[in-house]
Amino acid sequence: MKALVYRGPGKRAWEERPTPKVKRPTDAVIKILHTTICGTDLHILNGDVPEVEDGRILGHEGVGIVDSVGDSVTTFVPGDQVIISCITSCGKCRNCRRSMYSHCLDGGWLLGHTIDGTQAEYVRIPHADNSLYAVPEGADKEALVMLSDILPTGYECGVLSGCVKPGDTVAIIGAGPIGLAALMTAKLFSPSELILVDLDEDRLEVSRRFGATQVINSSDGKASARIMQLTRDRGVDVAIEAVGIRASFDICQETVAAGGHLANIGVHGKSVELHLEKLWSQNITLTTRLVDTSTTPMLLQSVLTSKLRPEQLITHRFALADIGAAYDTFGNAGQERALKVMLGA
Ligand SMILES: NC(=O)c1ccc[n+]([C@@H]2O[C@H](COP(=O)([O-])OP(=O)(O)OC[C@H]3O[C@@H](n4cnc5c(N)ncnc54)[C@H](O)[C@@H]3O)[C@@H](O)[C@H]2O)c1
Ligand SMILES: [Zn+2]
Ligand SMILES: [Zn+2]
Repeated sequence: MKALVYRGPGKRAWEERPTPKVKRPTDAVIKILHTTICGTDLHILNGDVPEVEDGRILGHEGVGIVDSVGDSVTTFVPGDQVIISCITSCGKCRNCRRSMYSHCLDGGWLLGHTIDGTQAEYVRIPHADNSLYAVPEGADKEALVMLSDILPTGYECGVLSGCVKPGDTVAIIGAGPIGLAALMTAKLFSPSELILVDLDEDRLEVSRRFGATQVINSSDGKASARIMQLTRDRGVDVAIEAVGIRASFDICQETVAAGGHLANIGVHGKSVELHLEKLWSQNITLTTRLVDTSTTPMLLQSVLTSKLRPEQLITHRFALADIGAAYDTFGNAGQERALKVMLGA
């Protein structure tokens, strides 16, 4: 089969690789129908995720068709269409029993990280019973690719950890696919204000279309002052960090209201400065989270009933074999106006 292989920092190749086989009785092998590229894949290519080895097939998102299953897989049979979760989980260990699948003692974020991933014609999925979700008859499979990672990430790490409630004022810093997924799912709770902050005018325009009540371009370094002005110096009930750098975390800590929540989503490669000298008395809650994908069934239901329409995030489509061009487009997202690039087998 063909697969997109990481060949060390800055290098990737579309290579011939052996088709994966069931190794353990709990595995399934999936033939990929659709996959996509995540910002995290770009981080890996940058060399920011050193545990990813030369030779690793990238990708942790996708929808496919079950090709073969191990003897103990009971939920799926060959021919079933499935959503592949970016998090692999056994469903049985102490962390899985708390629905903290991201810290499964025999799983977590494995795909395209410590085992071969989904940007390939076939992928082996460990613990298939708990790590795959059936695609309902007639569902839009491209839309369901957004359930592998970005929708649960925006919802769990941003909206749920931030405890968004009706009437809240919410600021989301970063209007990439994850920030926009947080925006879409925050709307399920009817906040009164949804303020989106980014450096990119095009993404701010998309945010408006998706329901942001205010957008702020932070390139002048004055986003915090603008948020304070918009909230009459009160600050926001929920500040969601969806970039992963110090500047965006600073906007969150400068604008979170007394009693508010600061929900960090971004993957931080460098340390930030936490201003406890200001925050110690503010009764705030600061959360961090690796996505668990425990809300996938609920999000799936919302997509099937069009309460959520994540297919709106798809800006480009490519054949799987043209994944090199898809990486070039996604890697130049600003100029290409790219959000999610959809690959079809
Ligand atoms: N916690 C998790 O489980 C989890 C899961 C998936 C992704 N992530 C992380 O979430 C973050 C967002 O992912 P994404 O795919 O949307 O990334 P992205 O790079 O597409 O989007 C980030 C956005 O932030 C904007 N930005 C950059 N600097 C800014 C600043 N100073 N102020 C305001 N906006 C700024 C960029 O213009 C861009 O639109 C990344 O760090 C990613 O690694 C976390
Ligand atoms: Zn991802
Ligand atoms: Zn587990």
